[in-house]
Amino acid sequence: RIEEVSLRAILDSRGNRTVEAEVRTASGGFGRGAAPSGASTGEHEAIELPVDEAIAAAREKAVPRLEGRVFSGDQRAVDAALHAADGSEDFSDIGANSAVAISMAAAKAGADVLGAPLYQHLGGAFRGRNYPIPLGNVVGGGEHAADATHIQEFLAAPVGAPNVREAVFANAAVHRTVGDILDERDIPAAKGDEGAWAPSIDDEEAFEIVAEATDRVTDDVGFEIGFGLDVAAAELYEDGVYRYGDEERTTAEQVSYVAGLVEEYDLVYVEDPLDENDFTAFADLTDRVGSRTLICGDDLFVTNTERIAHGIDVGAANSVLVKPNQIGTLSDAFDAIEMATENGYDPVISHRSGETEDTTIAHLAVATDAPYIKTGAVGGERTAKLNELIRIAEEAQ
Ligand code: PGA
Ligand code: ZN
Repeated sequence: RIEEVSLRAILDSRGNRTVEAEVRTASGGFGRGAAPSGASTGEHEAIELPVDEAIAAAREKAVPRLEGRVFSGDQRAVDAALHAADGSEDFSDIGANSAVAISMAAAKAGADVLGAPLYQHLGGAFRGRNYPIPLGNVVGGGEHAADATHIQEFLAAPVGAPNVREAVFANAAVHRTVGDILDERDIPAAKGDEGAWAPSIDDEEAFEIVAEATDRVTDDVGFEIGFGLDVAAAELYEDGVYRYGDEERTTAEQVSYVAGLVEEYDLVYVEDPLDENDFTAFADLTDRVGSRTLICGDDLFVTNTERIAHGIDVGAANSVLVKPNQIGTLSDAFDAIEMATENGYDPVISHRSGETEDTTIAHLAVATDAPYIKTGAVGGERTAKLNELIRIAEEAQ
């Protein structure tokens, strides 16, 4: 049984304060979890409250429902208690940041009590043998860096890698090679929030550079490294058009533009190519290119089963981004993954642009046999998850 839930403010990778939770059980189990935080957040996400407010509200309303009353290993009961404590539809009362930190801390305490790794506690005895392909952000802009590309993320996708370790190393090699190419072209580059290069170049040149980098590294490693995007198009959409600086595209033009990019660069993955409320245009694009490319909804679905169900009804995509803090608990994230999988939509487990050293999403991906994980390519808060995947895969051999 959960004996104590404690909450504190810590720092995330942007240097902002975020919620960390610790759960202690009567039998000596311990778990710690920390909430990540988005910059290009979806309009329909669960609500992140200011940290002090979230902590105070959770202490007052959620902690009394957990301490002495719920088993840490009973994740559904923990997450039901969080919902009951909150009472709103979107965790606007205790904060999705407090909720997700407690949910993850309880899961880790539950695993600790069992003496099992987290992925096994979450997935059961028969999961944990398939490892996700990591999508690695190597160039980016949008809301993650000032004065860089309009498209938020250019991703390396090592689809041909023989194992997760080689895949993780390949993404880092693509990131390094992009750095080399920028240097060769005398383009100065800082890094964005997720550690991707954030040069002041147009999207056109970014495509060229990332294509060249993936080609060079593919030659080197001898397996296929594909190319993917997170357009984060909701951030470009304004007054009915998609704005790329001075250039504008109507919705129909945006669909054609992205379909053309899929063709030209053989994209294996495109996230949020259209506005977060435009299920129809999503469905048009999926119709055109969805048989060869993953069309993934992030801001479109916000890990919310109601929105995913609607997307499935209208054929809006073929892949779902899963961010536990978009919905507030691991149980809700798990339900989103199950709904996606049962309907042939590939789940992609994802970090946020503001992250901590927490590794829960690596375990969640393995626990659910998720085919993909998106958690950056370099930088300590990203490699925390990537290195954890390497360890899990080795441990399970
Ligand atoms: P965010 O970006 O964490 O800033 O929302 C990540 C994404 O859009 O996938
Ligand atoms: Zn996204």
